[in-house]
Amino acid sequence: MTALWFIVFGSFVLSALALTLTVRKSIRGARQRETMSAAPAPLRETQRLTAAEDALVQWSPEMLRHILETELPDGDLIVVSNREPYVHERVRGRIQLQVPASGLVSALEPITRTCAGTWIAHGSGSADMDMVDANDRIAVPPSSPAYTLRRVWLTEEEYKGYYSGFANEGLWPLCHIAFTRPIFRAADWECYQAVNRKFAEVVLQEAKTERPVILVQDYHFALLPRLIREKLPEAVIITFWHIPWPNAEIFGVCPWREEILDGLLGSSILGFHIQLHCNNFLDSVDRFLESRIDREDSSVSYGGNATMVHPYPISIEWPEERRPSARGARERVFQKFGLPADMKLALGVERLDYTKGILDRFRALDEFFQQHSDWIGRVVFLQVAAPSRSTLPSYDRLHKECIRLVAEINERYGRDGYQPVILLDEHHDQSQLFDLYRAADLCVVSSLHDGMNLVAKEFVAARDDERGVLILSQFAGASRELPEALIVNPYDADQCASALQLALTMPAEDQRVRMRLMRNIVREFNVYRWAGRMLLDAASTRQRNRFRDRTESPIA
Ligand code: F6P
Repeated sequence: MTALWFIVFGSFVLSALALTLTVRKSIRGARQRETMSAAPAPLRETQRLTAAEDALVQWSPEMLRHILETELPDGDLIVVSNREPYVHERVRGRIQLQVPASGLVSALEPITRTCAGTWIAHGSGSADMDMVDANDRIAVPPSSPAYTLRRVWLTEEEYKGYYSGFANEGLWPLCHIAFTRPIFRAADWECYQAVNRKFAEVVLQEAKTERPVILVQDYHFALLPRLIREKLPEAVIITFWHIPWPNAEIFGVCPWREEILDGLLGSSILGFHIQLHCNNFLDSVDRFLESRIDREDSSVSYGGNATMVHPYPISIEWPEERRPSARGARERVFQKFGLPADMKLALGVERLDYTKGILDRFRALDEFFQQHSDWIGRVVFLQVAAPSRSTLPSYDRLHKECIRLVAEINERYGRDGYQPVILLDEHHDQSQLFDLYRAADLCVVSSLHDGMNLVAKEFVAARDDERGVLILSQFAGASRELPEALIVNPYDADQCASALQLALTMPAEDQRVRMRLMRNIVREFNVYRWAGRMLLDAASTRQRNRFRDRTESPIA
């Protein structure tokens, strides 16, 4: 009986292993077969891995390098974003290195490191200029250089018009349903165009071949794909829009809607976090541009270029194992904030942004204390709110309102040295955040609208003790992948208060089951998969275009 069991189990393990190897090979093989065969099979069948195949591929730095080497061999990797991954600031006469609080940076950094690429970004730090070479380049990370950061300098006027104005007062509120009115000014639009042109020139300077692979990031560079395409028609341009895309009716209020769509359709691939945002984009193109949309393939043909529009849920790099224990982190954090050992700790981590629903979660906490007064004195809410875009009136108002509301709650429920809310409105680095994630009993992500939200994934990844509860907004893209979180509507204070009660009283075994399921998803669907899937799709698009060009050219 035992022998029989061994045979059955053994052959199962062997066939699973063989299948894994086959799938890995097939990523390469599919492409080779297609190059050789007369007519490529439909894209979906060959290039996009099925869910079952995908589950067998281990998405790692090696895998990403392998894809680049085999699928896009002549393409040097260039990343373009507004925010730079490393900022040099002069603080009290000394130069400090900072890593900005940005989901984009945490996702792209491991990718660029892995591929030894070039990252082009705005040099925003007060000491940035002192650190670059004659070509405005610096090797980073400074402690163990792995790739090149090329800094781009902007005048104050350019920065104000392009970043603060058009990107953050126009496009940001346009794309997020948070009921903040977008502001569009012609002068800001001028700056936005000029800065996109400036970055396009830098891309041309940094491209080492005619066919670079260019990863254009976010709503700061909607015009860049077209500008690059005009100069480098063979480039693989992968644009990722990190925020939601609104429905066509809302998008239509933008006075330069056609130009923005035209710019983005210079891309080979245009990625969003979720299918809904892809659909909204296709609807916007349908309404405002003369083009051919293939809904089956989710692609747009426009101006002689084909753009695939697909969802690629962004993720994080899975943290290294063998970190100090979660218990140690809890002790450190509790000691730092003078909390008694039996206090429950609720956590919020974000940039101070009106889309994150920070005020709403404090209102929910207020509701919770009113409904469950027995918790007063037994739970503390620690809110990390990194200052962000603070020159803009909407952000300044939010900061003031946040301070006022926290003071009100602390006044109402505080007693004898007990403060129910601790507001930390300052920058925290990743290792400090990692400690906080591991120390907390629960983490609240109550975004009013969010493309993905990587805090939710970072919290889950940090909990190797399989403890802790995630309360997650239904309006964050992450809620699609993490249904085991307590999913809430952040506008419903009563429902959020119930979720707090549920989280604080959840038995350890329930926490473990939910956390284990969420950890499996985040581990498997990591940031290498996010980038790898885009690169695979880009490679197949390029091959398809080559095949089309060959078949369309007249026979000599
Ligand atoms: O999440 C959207 C996003 O634009 C990221 O892409 C960006 O890194 C983050 O917000 C922070 O914004 P900022 O760079 O303006 O501080």
